[in-house]
Amino acid sequence: MKLRTTYLGLELKSPVVVSSSTLTGSVESIKQCAAAGAGAVVLKSIFEEQILSDIKREEGYTDIYNSYFEAQEYLNTFMRGNEIDIYVKLIQEAKKVVDIPIIASVNCTSKGEWISIARELQDAGADAIELNIAIPAFDRDICARDIENEYISVLEEVKKNLNIPISVKIGDHFSNISRMAFNLSKAGAKGLVLFNRFYNPDINIEKMKVVPGNSISTREENSNTLRWISLLSSQGIPCELSASKGVYTGEDVVKQILAGAKTVQVCSTLYRNGIDYIKQINADVEAWMERHNFNDVESFRGIVNKKEDIKVVERLQYLRRNYDLH
Ligand SMILES: Cc1cc2nc3c(=O)[nH]c(=O)nc-3n(C[C@H](O)[C@H](O)[C@H](O)COP(=O)(O)O)c2cc1C
Repeated sequence: MKLRTTYLGLELKSPVVVSSSTLTGSVESIKQCAAAGAGAVVLKSIFEEQILSDIKREEGYTDIYNSYFEAQEYLNTFMRGNEIDIYVKLIQEAKKVVDIPIIASVNCTSKGEWISIARELQDAGADAIELNIAIPAFDRDICARDIENEYISVLEEVKKNLNIPISVKIGDHFSNISRMAFNLSKAGAKGLVLFNRFYNPDINIEKMKVVPGNSISTREENSNTLRWISLLSSQGIPCELSASKGVYTGEDVVKQILAGAKTVQVCSTLYRNGIDYIKQINADVEAWMERHNFNDVESFRGIVNKKEDIKVVERLQYLRRNYDLH
């Protein structure tokens, strides 16, 4: 009971949310998350890019269709519909078997699809939508302002067409995260998820080939999230902040809430420790609250946000020569 809170206007039994990943990609694992005490789940994203590549693959298999434009159009519509149907069923089934909020997640590459897919997920019964916006910034001819404006424009367009709460999940690669976050909030994001952790490359030095990097985060990655949750909450950002990346333990959850997070999202820790580890995280947060006489989450949220705390948070350089290394 002590862990009860709200996020995006939804009632949560715990501030610990399972983030978008294969952990939330089936009804069975969503049931497990709820049974272990998750406050909510964010479903695995539906990726427009994935739907398009599935369609291309399918087209390759069916030469007969390729020669008929109309048949090909039919196939595209059918396959797109099929992928969305699977996702819609996941939402509907999950809503039947668990009593925690189900947040759907969308990642698209074209404006029209953001709107139409998000609307279909809303109609399927999703309690909220998380926009997983990740516009690649690899083209040197595109200026940063244009990319940032695109984030805002996607959000505004989706927002015009939906009536459920919307959160936006972003990466940490912006020149001014603070401005980006405030602009998203102004454009109607009820929540901001900081941060996504993108697919990383590595190089196999024996084969001398690029290979996928480690998809699982480490606990140390938590500190950059902590910095931004602290800064944005101390600057009075009007939307709710959900801390993601490197949140591993109950201690990490307490830190993010002290910094001002409304919820935290966990992923890698559950890949490493199993979904049931949510029980331990919740128990550790409750034990800490007990020790410090807090009866609810709101009473300690954002309290480590005084001027002197923020001075430390804002420091980037090691100014003195001798720092204690531990
Ligand atoms: C296997 C795997 C699949 C993921 N799939 C998605 C996804 O579909 N959409 C999304 O927004 N994030 C996805 N993520 C990113 C996680 O939701 C999370 O933001 C990231 O792993 C950082 O949090 P963590 O340190 O708790 O793992 C995925 C992560 C992993 C490891």
